Amino acid sequence: MKILAIETSCDDTGVAILENKKEKFKILANTLASQTKIHKQWGGVVPMLAKREHQKTLIPLLEKAINKSGLTFFNRQNFNKKKKEIKAILKREENLYRDFKKFIKTKQIPDFDAIAVTKGPGLDPCLWVGINFAKALSLYLEKPIIPINHIEAHIFSGLITKENFKHFALPRKIEFPALSLIVSGGHTQLILIKKLNDYTMLGETRDDAAGECFDKIAKLLEMEYPGGPKISQKAKEWNGNSSFSFPRPMLNHDNLDFSFSGLKTAVLYHLKKIPELTENKKREIAYEAQEAITDVLTIKTIKAVKKYNVKTLIVGGGVSANQRLRKKIKEKIEKEKNPPTLILPLKNITTDNALMVGITALYKYNKEKTLNIKNLKSDPNLRIE
Ligand code: KG4
Ligand code: ZN
Repeated sequence: MKILAIETSCDDTGVAILENKKEKFKILANTLASQTKIHKQWGGVVPMLAKREHQKTLIPLLEKAINKSGLTFFNRQNFNKKKKEIKAILKREENLYRDFKKFIKTKQIPDFDAIAVTKGPGLDPCLWVGINFAKALSLYLEKPIIPINHIEAHIFSGLITKENFKHFALPRKIEFPALSLIVSGGHTQLILIKKLNDYTMLGETRDDAAGECFDKIAKLLEMEYPGGPKISQKAKEWNGNSSFSFPRPMLNHDNLDFSFSGLKTAVLYHLKKIPELTENKKREIAYEAQEAITDVLTIKTIKAVKKYNVKTLIVGGGVSANQRLRKKIKEKIEKEKNPPTLILPLKNITTDNALMVGITALYKYNKEKTLNIKNLKSDPNLRIE
């Protein structure tokens, strides 16, 4: 089975092609276009600009992915017969419709078995671009759509190995019960996975997400969006001998929830007290902020690992790229009596991408239960439970 996967939930546009043979799968293409350059001038993601960029980039990425995949068995349909309906689907994405039409007339699309697309959570105008593109392709190719939950995709991203890029290989194995820590720009969640498709939310942030906290603190330190990588870079330049520390919010609460907005306020108060924000001061604050965030994430995760006796711990989402977080979790896990297997996503697929959408689709695909595309809508607040 060959899957075309599309991701447009936030500010990364992704198109990937995967093929599976029984349990094994191979990545035929993984393309991504980041919009960081556009959004950083505004200090964060501007949804309407993101929507415009997704529209512009989807067809070039599709073409790149098809070329890379080497697939040659094409699905030849009569575009003119379906033109009206496709135009109606893409009525709010006029540029995309224009590019789509041009593409169909000059190039060919491989015979995919299904199209996977992110349904939510995410930014509504952005999600719709991917969904409408998937609908247009589905109608044209006469193939089903597999709608994917973005959080679930971050969980499954951990199952992809370097081998899957080279040949048909098995994904990493999950032993149940498993626990997932999802840390991204929009979410901070601890999810218990009793078995495939059986999720329980154990805890989540009550205000800002961990990535959002990194981004907001970076802004206070006059660093560009996205702030997570910038903070972690600056923190590395600090010697660790700090003259202060920031609070660890909710660490001693008897639950698995998080709260990060107070940390940003603590940084703000600290900045008010100091006479000048020197480069060295930035290093110290970045280091201490990262220590506070990664401490809370690690300690609460280990608490859940113990409480639920989990056999696999899967960390995912943009913040899982953070080396300090990876190191702390690894060290703590190793000290456990019955340490779970730790699954961390490959570094190049921690932030949003279409590959994770594709691998999730391989697990979710059910021939009997295909969706009527008319019923597919975006769900910006989609939950995993
Ligand atoms: O998963 P993702 O690409 O998008 C969402 O679904 O939100 O995550 C993006 C977030 C941003 O907040 C970014 O600052 C953060 O991930 N991030 C990092 C690092 N790399 C990306 N945070 C801390 N350390 C990093 N190395
Ligand atoms: Zn994400």
